[in-house]
Amino acid sequence: MSAENFEGDSVVKVTDLVAGYIPGVNILNGCSIEARRGELIGIIGPNGAGKSTLLKAMFGLVKVHSGTVMVRGQDLTGLKANKLVTRGVGFVPQNNNVFASLTIEENLQMGLYQQPKNFRERFEFVADLFPELKKRRSQRAGSLSGGERQMVAMGRALMMEPAVLLLDEPSAGLSPVKQDETFLRVHEINRAGVSVIMVEQNARRCLQICDRAYVLDQGKDAYTGTGRELMKDPKVIQLYLGTLADTA
Ligand SMILES: Nc1ncnc2c1ncn2[C@@H]1O[C@H](COP(=O)(O)OP(=O)(O)OP(=O)(O)O)[C@@H](O)[C@H]1O
Ligand SMILES: [Mg+2]
Repeated sequence: MSAENFEGDSVVKVTDLVAGYIPGVNILNGCSIEARRGELIGIIGPNGAGKSTLLKAMFGLVKVHSGTVMVRGQDLTGLKANKLVTRGVGFVPQNNNVFASLTIEENLQMGLYQQPKNFRERFEFVADLFPELKKRRSQRAGSLSGGERQMVAMGRALMMEPAVLLLDEPSAGLSPVKQDETFLRVHEINRAGVSVIMVEQNARRCLQICDRAYVLDQGKDAYTGTGRELMKDPKVIQLYLGTLADTA
């Protein structure tokens, strides 16, 4: 079955994933998550829980020992990143996610290096979501603010028309105003038809905007529910959100 013909509702289904960096040391210990068509999924959890490792394992950057990653009905477990981008998966890592010495436009071209002839059409799609990237297309990415770089990184990942976008802490290091703007953009990307799986340290904010979320703890999905449900769950509040949770 080809991805294009896949009629099911599941865009990404990760089942019992076990993965790690060093042989014999597993960071993910049987982690399962799913993103259905059109969903914005949040991933929260304490530092070191394995949130980044989960995204990296889904994107072929960390060795998977067992378990599966299905994308639109196809088993893509362990495929390399350059193959995954052609199969509908986009990834924005937390750090070093732009080419600082290249212009905005060149960064977007890099996102499409496997299909350069689609540039004009995809550039217009990205420019609709991020008009300032079009206006400033000749500016070097290294001279942009943190929030602007995040837009370039998301824009680049969108160039290959992903079915799902994996975002690792898009709001990290930004001012509260820029964090709000980033969340708004993530919402718009999602509304444009891209399923999103977003890891966030700003747990409360993440639960407010996502459809469903997973709490990751020690490499496993410990809790799941709608953002609203998890925000009200006493266990989640006590263990992961802290006392500030009720002030939202
Ligand atoms: N490249 C690496 N080599 C070896 N171990 C690593 C590597 N990257 C991460 N780890 C380990 O994997 C575990 C999970 O790290 P990970 O970065 O996935 O956590 P996280 O949930 O994203 O945390 P944070 O909220 O701090 O970003 C940690 O114990 C970390 O030390
Ligand atoms: Mg992380």
